[in-house]
Amino acid sequence: MKNTYFDLIDQTYYFPQEGFDLNNGNLTFHGIPLKHLIEKYGTPFRFIYLPKIGDQIKKARNLFNRAIKKNNYKGTYNYCYCTKCNHFSHVVSEALKHNVHLETSSSFDIDLILNLFREKKIDKKRTIICNGYKTNDYLNKIVSIQEMGFSNIIVVLDSKSELDRLITAAGKNIIKIGIRMAINEEPQSSYYTSRLGIRQNELVQFFRENIKGNEHVELKMLHFFVDSGIKDSLYYWGEFQKALNIYTSLKKESKSLDSFNLGGGFPIRNNLGFSYDYEYMINEIVKNIKDACDNEKVTEPNIYTEFGKYTVGESGAIIFEVLEQKHQNDTETWYIINNSLMNTIPDAWSIHEKFILLPINKWFNEPARINLGGISCDHSDYYNSEDLNQEVMLPSYSNDDKEPLYVGFFHTGAYQDAISGYGGIKHCLIPSPKHVIIDRDEKGNIIDYVYRNEQSAEEMFKILGYDK
Ligand SMILES: Cc1ncc(COP(=O)(O)O)c(C=O)c1O
Repeated sequence: MKNTYFDLIDQTYYFPQEGFDLNNGNLTFHGIPLKHLIEKYGTPFRFIYLPKIGDQIKKARNLFNRAIKKNNYKGTYNYCYCTKCNHFSHVVSEALKHNVHLETSSSFDIDLILNLFREKKIDKKRTIICNGYKTNDYLNKIVSIQEMGFSNIIVVLDSKSELDRLITAAGKNIIKIGIRMAINEEPQSSYYTSRLGIRQNELVQFFRENIKGNEHVELKMLHFFVDSGIKDSLYYWGEFQKALNIYTSLKKESKSLDSFNLGGGFPIRNNLGFSYDYEYMINEIVKNIKDACDNEKVTEPNIYTEFGKYTVGESGAIIFEVLEQKHQNDTETWYIINNSLMNTIPDAWSIHEKFILLPINKWFNEPARINLGGISCDHSDYYNSEDLNQEVMLPSYSNDDKEPLYVGFFHTGAYQDAISGYGGIKHCLIPSPKHVIIDRDEKGNIIDYVYRNEQSAEEMFKILGYDK
């Protein structure tokens, strides 16, 4: 009996499963026949399946609201979308249809807020949480939208020095602020304390000396973000508990403080064996906050999250055609795909991120252990292990086959476009710097001139679809 790729997947995991199924032997994604898209658009192409965004938002919101009810929790749950994860107009607009608040990361993000306001996708009451390093340009833009009438902006201080600069930029305006607590990283990390935020042992004193009684600012939020993700681990709960201790200490001295922001970090399915108990984790989060507040006799805060990857990651995919197979030795077979993995899913080579890799067709061919390579000349342009297996299996095929093998990387909707610089956009919308050319003339004198100025917000928004 022939052992097929389908048998392998069905026996190793279970199949069909959440969003993935077969139709006439070809893969479908949430009911979309991918073979049909390949015939229509040709390969390579990336796509985003918008309905998944709303499903994710609804799932988290329902689970938080259920946990709030179950624990008789007094505060509210507030879902923010972290724009840096995917800035495209169609993506942010889809999230906004589900009434999310927005979290910004840099100066151009405030231009994005203005674009959304002009397009009537948000009004001035929408909560905007301003995170990230505050350049003066970023601070001035934040103040200017507050002066326009945006009434729910919270500026999260990333470092102590931001407070004075914020107050200078604010003039007579009173600004709602948050403070970000710097987390201590996991032991295997290459540094000990995150550069993002204010050190845990300095935070309460900083509040007492600089914020308490300061008429220019009103403390609303404590923010922390464990960037290795929200996991049921001793490390995660340790950082969580430290944030809670700081929150309750601050709350005893600050009437206006009423919000606790966990940042992002909800995981997504990056392999077919993925299992994560969202309901359990959300209940634990709510319960732990409640217990800490009860013990310290302070009111429970409103809970904020800023899920980026969780909101959009599972809605994206990229499809390739295998151009050629090369048997380089007895055990190594390379499938060369018709683009570059470094360019299209940069997290795969830069931080060894794994995605779900599946064939679109030939599911009933025998499975083969392969290495996947891109057509760039860089030796790092490859993918050869999955999250659960230190190998990649795909269907075998014959060079005489009429139809090529097509493969897809799924759940690639977060960060990949920004990090790979799709069309000229950038991570956190931080623009390409000015480009200067330096030469010498025949006498050896230096000649220098600007080849291109710094990228403008308008240039980026054109690429992102905000110029319609
Ligand atoms: C402050 C802050 N909030 C939210 C996020 C989103 O994280 P994730 O995409 O893991 O949900 C990030 C990501 O870097 C972040 O820095």
